[in-house]
Amino acid sequence: MSVRHFLTLSDFTPVELERLLARAIELKAMRRDGLRHEPLKNKVLAMLFEKSSTRTRVSFESAMIQCGGGAIFLSPRDTQLGRGEPVEDTARVLSRMSDVIVVRTFEHEKLERFAAHSTVPVINALTDQYHPCQLLADLQTYVEQRGTIKGKIVAWVGDGNNMCNSYIEAARLFEFELRISTPPGYDPDSALLKASAGHATLTRKPQDAVRGTDLVVTDVWTSMGQEQEQATRLRDFAQYQVNARLMALAKPDARFMHCLPAHRGEEVSADVIDGPQSVVWDEAENRLHAQKALLEMLLS
Ligand code: CP
Ligand code: NVA
Repeated sequence: MSVRHFLTLSDFTPVELERLLARAIELKAMRRDGLRHEPLKNKVLAMLFEKSSTRTRVSFESAMIQCGGGAIFLSPRDTQLGRGEPVEDTARVLSRMSDVIVVRTFEHEKLERFAAHSTVPVINALTDQYHPCQLLADLQTYVEQRGTIKGKIVAWVGDGNNMCNSYIEAARLFEFELRISTPPGYDPDSALLKASAGHATLTRKPQDAVRGTDLVVTDVWTSMGQEQEQATRLRDFAQYQVNARLMALAKPDARFMHCLPAHRGEEVSADVIDGPQSVVWDEAENRLHAQKALLEMLLS
């Protein structure tokens, strides 16, 4: 049997994803109740990160420690990958020494090449194209707050980036309606949009996307690797800030999410991210629980 990876949400069926979220909620309760649960004893997670990270790194490392295993963090600064060793060779070697591998990199195609040469499960910890682990935490958070997301309306405001692409996949798999609002030139992946037709639509005016929605989501205007475009992006996204005026168009009990790190005063105003509709801290915490469920699923 070929090895199972988690490179995009579509690698799992809707039934598996629902089961994973339910398990994440269960694992969260078990931790809250102080129950010891060590299903990953003696298991090793290798973590290859070519970009910075706070949440993803700490949630995976904590998950492995709490589940009885261990994690090894590797950056290009101190591995041979950073000195030109091929990604295929790195995958072959790491997968002979570890049980599961988490990779954060730039091109999604590089992650695919890595996974193709790994004999153990590979998890996408963010590429330029997708951020599926964040979606697990976002969906868990929505379910905890509001119950099923099926049939609900979600607004994405800002850049058509990796997070937006994963939301497009989620809309199809979890059967919610996604209304995306991006400035011209910053659209999400058109093939993905096409594949999720009927679940995801694109509009220019943020007000049109947010009106009557159950959840409003945004992300940074300048993602990692785009730093040289920052000045242009600040100008192009100026009308796309999620602020109290925009949130007022959503349903009164709508929630606000942001994968973090956030830039108050840019993509989101401080009163929204620090206000009563924001669930960003639960969203961040749920990275831990959702990824424990993911690790359990891939390693069992
Ligand atoms: N949301 C998220 O992936 O955060 P980090 O970049 O800190 O891992
Ligand atoms: N879109 C952001 C997400 C960070 C978690 C980036 O790629 O930098």
